[in-house]
Amino acid sequence: MRAASYDRHGPAAEVLAVHDVERPVPGPGEVLVRVILSGVNPTDFKSRSGATPRPIDGFQIPHHDGAGVIEAAGEGVDPARAGQRVWLWLAAAGRRWGTAAEYTVVPGEQAVPLPDGVSLELGASLGVPAVTAHRCLFADGPVRGKTVLVAGGAGAVGHFAIELAVWAGARVIATVTSSTTATPAPPTRSARRLGRPTGSSRSHSAPTSPLTSRWPGPAR
Ligand SMILES: NC(=O)c1ccc[n+]([C@@H]2O[C@H](COP(=O)([O-])OP(=O)(O)OC[C@H]3O[C@@H](n4cnc5c(N)ncnc54)[C@H](OP(=O)(O)O)[C@@H]3O)[C@@H](O)[C@H]2O)c1
Repeated sequence: MRAASYDRHGPAAEVLAVHDVERPVPGPGEVLVRVILSGVNPTDFKSRSGATPRPIDGFQIPHHDGAGVIEAAGEGVDPARAGQRVWLWLAAAGRRWGTAAEYTVVPGEQAVPLPDGVSLELGASLGVPAVTAHRCLFADGPVRGKTVLVAGGAGAVGHFAIELAVWAGARVIATVTSSTTATPAPPTRSARRLGRPTGSSRSHSAPTSPLTSRWPGPAR
C-alpha cells in the first residue's frame, strides 16, 4: 500500500516521504480499515518533528484521526463489521499504523461506526479534538442546565465543545478573537432545533448520540 512515513524525527521536508509499505494484517481484536480521509492533529506533527518525540518502531505512519471502511476483522472481532463506515481515533498512539496511508489497523473499539448520513469528512475531523472536548465537558459529570464558557470557540476543540455542550443541554458562551472567525455558518437543521449558543454568532450542529456513546467517559 502507499503510505506517508518517517523513520527519524525532523522537519517534514527532510523526513516525511511516500513509500510502498506492506499492508498490515489485523491481529486479535483489531480491524483493517481502508482509509478514505486522514485527519491531521497537532500531536501528529509534534511527534514527527521531535517536539514531543515518541519511539519509532522502524517506521512511523503519522496521523491519529481518520475515516474509512472496515476491510477485514481480526480474530475475536465480529466479521460482520467488514464494510462498516467508521471514524478512527488515536490510530498512531503507540503503533506505527497511522492513517496517512491507504490502510491502517486499529483495535476494534478505535474504529467507531459512523451513523448513516454522517459524512466521512466529519468522521475524520472528530478523533483527538472532539474526544478532548468531550472529556473537558463531561469528566466531572453532566452539564445540563449549566452555563459553559468555551474560550476559543472557533477552534478545533472549541467548536466541538460548543456543539457537545448544546447537545447536552447547557447554555454556551463562547469567545472569538475577531468578527472574521465569528462569521455565522449556515444553520443546520439540528442547530435550529437545539437553539444557538450565546455570545458567539456561530451556529453549531449537534452530533447524534451514536457518535458519542462510544467515547470514553460518560456520554452526558
Ligand atoms: N486539537 C486537539 O486535538 C487538542 C487536543 C488536546 C489539547 N488541545 C489544546 O486545546 C487548545 C485549543 O487547541 P485547538 O487545536 O482547538 O486550537 P485552534 O484550532 O488553533 O483554536 C484555538 C482558538 O483559540 C483562539 N485564540 C488563539 N489565540 C488567542 C488569544 N490570544 N486570545 C483568545 N483566543 C485566542 C483562536 O480564536 P480565533 O479563531 O477566534 O482567532 C482559536 O479559535 C490548545 O491549548 C491545545 O493545545 C488541542
